[in-house]
Amino acid sequence: MNVTFSVNGKNCSVDAAPTERLSDVLRARLQLTGTKVGCDAGDCGACTVLINGEMACACLTAVAQVEGAKITTVEGLASRDGTVGQLQQSFLQHGAAQCGICTPGMLMAATQLLKSKKTVTRQAVQDALGGVLCRCTGYSKIVDAVMKVASPAKIVAGTGRAVGLSIARLDGTPKVMGEDVFGADTVPENAVLVRVLRSPHHTARFSFGDLDQFVRDTPGVLAVFTARDIPGKNQFGVIPAFADQPALADGIAKFRGEAVAALAGEPEAMRQLDLDTLPIRWEALPELRESGMALTSNALLHDHRPGNILVQGRVERGDIDLGFRAAAHIAEDVFTTPFIEHAYIEPEAGYAVREGDRLTVFGCTQAPHMDKEAIAEIMGLRSDQVRVMPSACGGGFGSKLDLSFQPYIALAAWTLNRPAYIVYTRRESMQSTTKRHPSDMRIKAGCDVNGRITAVDFEGVFNTGAYSSWGPTVANRVPVHASGPYFTPHYRARSKAVLTHSMPSGAFRGFGVPQAMVALECIYDQLADAAGIDRMEFRLLNALRNGEPTVTGQVFQAGVGIVECLTALRPAWAKALQAANAFNGRTNGSGLRKGVGLATCWYGCGNTSLPNPSTIRMGITPDGRIMLHQGATDIGQGANTVIAQIAADALGVPVGALTLVGPDTDLTPDAGKTSASRQTFVTGNAAKRAGEALRQTVLAQTNAGATAKLSFNGRSVTIAGPNMKSTLQLGELPLDSRGYVFSAEETYDPPTQPLNKDGQGEPYAVYGYGAQVCELTVNTALGTVKLDRITAAHDVGKAINPMLVEGQIEGGIAQGIGMALMEDYVPGRTENLHDYLIPTFGDVPEIKSIIVEVADPHGPYGAKGLGEHVLIPTAPAILNAIRHATGAVIRNLPATPDKVYAAIKEVQTR
Ligand code: FES
Repeated sequence: MNVTFSVNGKNCSVDAAPTERLSDVLRARLQLTGTKVGCDAGDCGACTVLINGEMACACLTAVAQVEGAKITTVEGLASRDGTVGQLQQSFLQHGAAQCGICTPGMLMAATQLLKSKKTVTRQAVQDALGGVLCRCTGYSKIVDAVMKVASPAKIVAGTGRAVGLSIARLDGTPKVMGEDVFGADTVPENAVLVRVLRSPHHTARFSFGDLDQFVRDTPGVLAVFTARDIPGKNQFGVIPAFADQPALADGIAKFRGEAVAALAGEPEAMRQLDLDTLPIRWEALPELRESGMALTSNALLHDHRPGNILVQGRVERGDIDLGFRAAAHIAEDVFTTPFIEHAYIEPEAGYAVREGDRLTVFGCTQAPHMDKEAIAEIMGLRSDQVRVMPSACGGGFGSKLDLSFQPYIALAAWTLNRPAYIVYTRRESMQSTTKRHPSDMRIKAGCDVNGRITAVDFEGVFNTGAYSSWGPTVANRVPVHASGPYFTPHYRARSKAVLTHSMPSGAFRGFGVPQAMVALECIYDQLADAAGIDRMEFRLLNALRNGEPTVTGQVFQAGVGIVECLTALRPAWAKALQAANAFNGRTNGSGLRKGVGLATCWYGCGNTSLPNPSTIRMGITPDGRIMLHQGATDIGQGANTVIAQIAADALGVPVGALTLVGPDTDLTPDAGKTSASRQTFVTGNAAKRAGEALRQTVLAQTNAGATAKLSFNGRSVTIAGPNMKSTLQLGELPLDSRGYVFSAEETYDPPTQPLNKDGQGEPYAVYGYGAQVCELTVNTALGTVKLDRITAAHDVGKAINPMLVEGQIEGGIAQGIGMALMEDYVPGRTENLHDYLIPTFGDVPEIKSIIVEVADPHGPYGAKGLGEHVLIPTAPAILNAIRHATGAVIRNLPATPDKVYAAIKEVQTR
């Protein structure tokens, strides 16, 4: 049917099926891709538009419903001259857009609120925007941006002083304008659409019928690819020595959602195709879905992994028996945590194009150079035949480090010699991509009569799913970190990553450390109580200090900032305790109890005892542009801005003078993967070195001293020292092999040492530290928990951009809240965003961030990593607050009302 309506003031007429989703019409027919699609089910709100001034999910609106309507999308919010509108400017200046995938939906919801003439209170903003999910920001800065829309303050960095300033994201404008290009936002002309058939069973044997006949009989389907069609090695994995995952399962599927065939064809036919018509026979096999079952079974997921154990980790220091004999108080307990889904709002998407003997893959990723190597291996190509161009990335949090969609579009594009694209559905994204490892943990800790820790014994079993992914990393990182940032003279920590019939567990903000710190910080509350010591003072007494060995025997002479974090929280702790005790002392008959909890974190930045280099290139063009080849993917955390701030100061120019190039494996050197809180520290150091080297090269053209000022004016640069001034005409200078007048490329690899058989050594050059205090109210009659406030102190060494630091803290805390109170991924049951719950505006309380700066000698300008750290203390702080309020110990996350209620009843009947 023909439907006529207006979009952003322009009349449109489309010939579409009446039930076609408005989101598809806007994106595919009208090329208005600012409207994003995160779930196609009305759960995430990313596709929010205004229809006749009212908010609506475009994915739930049939196009026939908008006949004659006036529609406004994010593209209609710009000011009259086409530049960012006032609300968009406010989002930029408040750091309200991180990855940016939710931003158009947030902006549209905020626009309706602001036009409604309602009083714009914090609560009103939360209510109005409550239907839109954000996984990055923790919502607070979005509320700020809407409330302060009239007067956003603009911060501009001057020459050589960008570091330390809260400048707006350099890549922010396209995010608020709806112009950022995510994986699903562009489809090459004449592209085929690829869809993937996945196992409906947790494990099953399968065989195909006549696929050639199927292709011949199915109009529009051009090819079906199975394991036998993979031209190279049907195997990938983020750690090459452990690579064990097939791109397409070969005869046996080992988890529900595993890919068994990829189909390619004309887009309309492929959209209509019922994948269940593909001839395939399934024979379900006995499942080993729990670690305990897999450990005791004779059946093996992989023949070369006896006992279904992928990896075991161990760190041992001192004499654990001696430590417990010296203890006056001992506490011991067990804790379990479930699978947790990353729930980024952008499902995996991208396209591939073959040009001669080269293959280009465009799409969302956290690790372009790793992808390039892996795609080449699967496709049987040399790595220089593959180019990876990361799209804007709508959240990753670790899961987009692993390959997902890339092999299928590569296969189709290469074989059919036509561009090929794919867009995962929310369900297949959740079914098939990695999760946080479920854990079963046992912990025992002892302290002497004065409260000094004497020993900790930790054992953790981590369900790593069907393939290795980051299981080895988790198994090795956990024992190093399970002591927390405390001096622990006698220590034993053991871990196992166990293979099961579940989707692979992989990297998720913390690599197992958040689970381990639940066990440690909860047991330390019990131990402090047993010793009769205030829980804050217990932690301060035992906090690691400069000069004391960690549990791996590493001694830092500077940069250990946990005491400073705890000290910064002391006033908030005392005030919160006083308020909670006063509230609980009143008998109000409401059944409400207030609680205050505390927990800490430490986290080693970068790979554990492995090389971890990043390289940054900078160059000056003959027309005076300063190019920063920045290959670190910015998945919302702010690498594009932070790395540029560091590079600008090192070179001695305003950050606005830099032009960002990349990431693109053809254009940017390898800056490693965006994971393990390494980009600010590792790539930041490379950027600092590159900026300094480029500066030296320019200064060397004259007799200027090291403090000389550089001023770029079009095609010339003026160098001014105390007693000299010289101007270079850039256009007159020879070009180097890269086409630059001057250039520099520098690499930084953190100094680490391998761990010995007892886990002793120097696994990280730098750790970051933090602590959080949670205040909450428990309804003891219902078991519900309402968070009142979280105060977070994080030692970042040097806040390169304090606004982005706060954004990371708030976003990490929101994910920690989800881990503590609601998130539980169950294959087959919570494969969408209405059954799998993540925190919304109403779930995140006031967050007060305290930035602590204990400079690290290895960090660029003293900076440490931050991304993982901020999530780690939140869940244990919440659990400790629940215990403080009610006496109930929650041993099985998440602390849903039924579990909290049951734990309270257990306490009451003791
Ligand atoms: Fe909201 Fe990433 S900024 S989902």
